[in-house]
Amino acid sequence: MAERLPQIAIGEDERLDLENLVTGAFHPVKGFMTREETLSVVHEMRLPTGEVWSLPILLQLPEKPRVGPGDRVALVHQGEAVGLMEVAEAYTLDLRALAQAVFGTESEAHPGVARLYAKGPYAIGGKVTVLKPRPRSPLEKTPEEARAFFRAQGWKTVVAFQTRNAPHRAHEYLIRLGLELADGVLVHPILGAKKADDFPTEVIVKAYQALVEGFLPRERVALFGLATPMRYAGPKEAVFHALVRKNFGATHFLVGRDHAGVGDFYDPYAAHRIFDGLPPLGIEIIRVGAVFFCPLCGGMASERTCPGGHRAKRLSVSMTQVRRLLREGREPPPELVRPELLPILREGLG
Ligand code: ADX
Repeated sequence: MAERLPQIAIGEDERLDLENLVTGAFHPVKGFMTREETLSVVHEMRLPTGEVWSLPILLQLPEKPRVGPGDRVALVHQGEAVGLMEVAEAYTLDLRALAQAVFGTESEAHPGVARLYAKGPYAIGGKVTVLKPRPRSPLEKTPEEARAFFRAQGWKTVVAFQTRNAPHRAHEYLIRLGLELADGVLVHPILGAKKADDFPTEVIVKAYQALVEGFLPRERVALFGLATPMRYAGPKEAVFHALVRKNFGATHFLVGRDHAGVGDFYDPYAAHRIFDGLPPLGIEIIRVGAVFFCPLCGGMASERTCPGGHRAKRLSVSMTQVRRLLREGREPPPELVRPELLPILREGLG
């Protein structure tokens, strides 16, 4: 049946989000967005129905599609019809304006902007259904499965931790903070596409498995994965990340320093402040300042726990530094990353 419908080829990112739309991961968004939805989201951070939503979910096309409102189309991934769309609208995007509104820049040096431009200026919007589900890794749970898991564990409060990285000591500090505050922690790494100088997904997952097995109370940590691409949209992506984790059953969401940031594109605390201007989202935001190692405090500490007088002694912790040391063939110190994880990270440098 799908063979007789107009065929629209979709890429890997869109295949993932097709399923996220259907499983409720992106609730209340049910389809790829129309022009009205896109403009409302990028300029007002609201869907036309009034609910908060911060990132456009687009099915972009490089060429003008020969379909229009009311058409039913097959969404084809690598030659296979994997979904259907009831087309509500075919339209043209102003990509530069969109980039500015979502990412705060039109620069192609921004990986999210480059990706937006590369996918083309046309779009179709409308509700979708899945014809052929993707094979899932055991780490991937639907929102329903994740909620059922938390219920079965008896967890009433769940802190979600977003990541696109293998864990360094600041990430671990945030996770432990979550463990102090709630019944359980959902460690939810991004399984979709990331920029070339992030670690590959398999390495991230392997490193987290080692951390959870070896160093955390594993009965209180759910290591699942979120199959969607990173956008690197900083504050707006922090809101998106929080809303999606609410859909997976989390009650709290950790937002650290420069959440979903890249390079110097965002103020490191813009992703904290953005929540101040929004109504309650149904998930509590736990804002954490920069986390570092402080030799005077004698351990990991943060802007809020370490006195300003120690500033000069602090050792800042970031994966950029870990990667730099590894590439230079040097050993990142244990204050940056657990030595036990180094073999996994070295393998992942490529
Ligand atoms: S992100 O793109 O997913 O934000 P990453 O995986 O590095 O990148 O970070 C995961 C979470 O940890 C984010 O909330 C981020 O703000 C936080 N984080 C990372 N490094 C630090 C740090 N040194 N201090 C405080 N928070 C941090």
